[in-house]
Order: sequence, then structure tokens, then C-alpha cells
Amino acid sequence: MTAEPSPLVETLQELHRKYAPVAIGKVADYIPELSKADPSWFGIAVVAVDGRTFEVGDSRRPFSIQSVSKPFVFGLALEDHGRERVLSKVGVEPSGEAFNSIVLDEATNRPFNPMVNAGAIATTDLVDGAGPAARLGRLLEMYRRYTGREVHVDAATFLSERATGHRNRAIAHLMLNFGMIEHRVDETLELYFQQCAAMVDCRDLAVMAATLANGGVNPITGERALEADYVKDLLSVMLSCGSYDFAGEWTYRIGLPAKSGVGGGLLAVVPGVAGIAVFSPPLDPRGNSVRGVLVCRELSERHRLHILEPGGAGRSLAEAIGRGSAPDATAREGGRP
Ligand code: DON
Repeated sequence: MTAEPSPLVETLQELHRKYAPVAIGKVADYIPELSKADPSWFGIAVVAVDGRTFEVGDSRRPFSIQSVSKPFVFGLALEDHGRERVLSKVGVEPSGEAFNSIVLDEATNRPFNPMVNAGAIATTDLVDGAGPAARLGRLLEMYRRYTGREVHVDAATFLSERATGHRNRAIAHLMLNFGMIEHRVDETLELYFQQCAAMVDCRDLAVMAATLANGGVNPITGERALEADYVKDLLSVMLSCGSYDFAGEWTYRIGLPAKSGVGGGLLAVVPGVAGIAVFSPPLDPRGNSVRGVLVCRELSERHRLHILEPGGAGRSLAEAIGRGSAPDATAREGGRP
């Protein structure tokens, strides 16, 4: 008996075919290494909370995680210091500003939230460890728990951002002035550039998103990546601030906690159901992957994924994941061995 093709793989293939010809958006070039990306690269992956994996296109092509790292480092800071201390250094308020804006909350001197660069540098500063190697080691170990494999920092991307990241240096020094970060500014900036230069693929991002969808436990390895109590902290700031000055529109139209990065990666979490990831380097003016936003929007509309949807977000996606199983040549479907 031949297994029925998975309806979800068919949907992903259809969205890939539909949006591959989209020629709008621009590959990031303010970090020179990123400008080498091919605008046609395009992958989509979905990982269910039972570990089943559905992927199409360039889902295994490595790219740097960039800002998609930010919620996960926020989680590490929360585990290291607890809510009270972390929230004394970074707010949870959408800024309505660009991701790299040089602005702090006038009343508290805190960066607005952990998703903009200022807030992300403040949370990276909170990563514990005796010196740069130990701190980087803890960060990479965190990525390993979420992805289920060893993750490395790409030297060329790291050096490229270190050589050009003057705006982030300005932000870090402004925060030092207000006591929002410690005096090891250069060490923290290097760690932030390394965190952004970590190499992942689209499937990795879907596993990371599925880990959050699954209450902090990686659905493929079964390992806990984040204390259960902090999962909602990450998801809240991803929903309200994850797409910067597009966050209101994102929440209204798509309604899923999400995070984008200038490397072209974008992940979205369907709590209790699955993680979704898209990789496509051309960005809109706000720094979000153009095809990434289009795919998430259509998936959300088709499967009624908005978390405020009456009757339970993601039910139709869960059904699509649950039915059928056959992979084909261009779409792989796997899962727990
Ligand atoms: O700090 C930066 O500018 C980059 N390393 C990360 C920015 C980023 O990914 C913004 N996201 N869309």
C-alpha cells in the first residue's frame, strides 16, 4: 500500500513554488560578508512537537543566525539571573523603532526590549562565565540544546561584523554610560558578534522554534533547552517585539511569536503544535525576510494559526501534520528515528 502524501509537504511545496519568483527585497550588505548571499536561496521547514520534520528547498543551507539568536540569549540571561535582575537592565516594551536604533527608555535608561540590538547587547552582557571563552562556550552549548547538534561561529561573518559594527559599539557605550551593561564592553560586543555569526540552517531554526512550542524541550532529542517557566517570557517578547517596527502589523496579520534575522532566517512558534522556519536572504526595509513574511502570513491564514483565533490556534496545522507521511524527491519528511 502506498502512503498518502503529507498534505503539509504539499502545502510547503506550493508556497515555495508561489513565492520563489518574488524579486523584491535586498540582501543585507551593512555586514559585508552577508552580501555574498544568493537572493534565490529559499527554504521552508516545519518541525512538529512530536519531532516530525517537513522541509522543502534550501532547508539545509547554512547561514548566520543573526538576530534570531536574541530571544534565546534572553532566555539564557533569565536562567542566569532571574526576571527581576534581567528586567532591571532591559524592558519588554515594543519600541516601534528600527532594530539598530540608538535609543533608550528616557525614564529608566533601559533599552526597550531584548529583540532590538541595544536590548540584545544588554542580555548578552548578562551571559555568565569566567572570561570570553567560557561565556562563548555556554552560548554554543545553549545552541546545541536547541538545535540538537554542535553549532559553530563562522569566522568570516564574525570578523566582518566586528570590523564594521560601529553602531553597535556606540549603543554599547551609551548603555555603559547609564550602567546598563558592565565595564567589559569589548568582551560583550565580541560575544554578541559571535552569537550573531553562529551558523544554522532552516531546519535548525524550525527545531529551535519547535522546542519553544514544546515547552522548552527539544522534540527530536528530548533534551530540555530552557526552563519551562521562562518559555512564555521568550514567546511574549517575540510576539510583541520580534519584528521591530513591523511588530504590530505582524501580530495583527500573522499572530505568532516570531523572530527574524538579517541573514535571511525567520522562525515562528505555534505553541503546542510546531515550529516554522523560512530562509530567504532578501529583506524588506525593516530587516525581515520578504519571502519569510509572505510564507508565514499565508500559512497562518490557511491554517488559522493566529494565537488569538477562537477554537484553538494551529488545530488545522496539527491535522495537516497528523495526516499522510510519504516524502518525495524535493521534500523531505523525517522525525525521531
Ligand atoms: O547587530 C546586528 O546588526 C546584526 N548582527 C543582527 C541584526 C539583525 O539580524 C536584525 N534582524 N532582522
